Amino acid sequence: MLTKTTASDKTRMLLDEAALDAARHSPEQGAVTPHFGPWRDDIVTLLNGALATEIVCVLRYKRHHFTAAGLASPAIAAEFLVHANEESAHGDRLAQRIVQLGGEPDFSPNTLLARSHAAYDESADLKAMIKANLVAERVAIEAYSQMITLIGDKDSTTRRLLEDILGDEQNHAEELKDWLAE
Ligand SMILES: [Fe+2]
Ligand SMILES: [Fe+2]
Repeated sequence: MLTKTTASDKTRMLLDEAALDAARHSPEQGAVTPHFGPWRDDIVTLLNGALATEIVCVLRYKRHHFTAAGLASPAIAAEFLVHANEESAHGDRLAQRIVQLGGEPDFSPNTLLARSHAAYDESADLKAMIKANLVAERVAIEAYSQMITLIGDKDSTTRRLLEDILGDEQNHAEELKDWLAE
């Protein structure tokens, strides 16, 4: 026998009218609406950690680009600069999102390395440079993957941004791994 099931109020897909009303009455908060709940500050902190990581990656890749120029593979030296520019673009997108969330992007050089997940590196040898960059990319991949899981459905715009950056870091790591094997 078929029984008709009716969703109780708790399981129905209803919008939160009080939150909609709060959104109507606080235009000074720009893109930040009640949906963020208590998570906005944590998201800004996560994004600032990612921003510091990207800036340290820019510095490391630039150092490697210029010091590898006289070494065996000019193609790899050139690719280090391509990576530096891509990490810089990641940093810009993170800073832009932080501002959109009403936060402050932290570019302070005093605390940059301490806040970065990835390390700076001054290796003189090409293989050591490639390895240091691969390790840094792997750390970035792990950090972005964890952030994506933490953010989940709390902020889909930030999650999509992080997913996009994660894809680039995975490409970087794959490329470095291939060079290391050559
Ligand atoms: Fe990056
Ligand atoms: Fe990268």
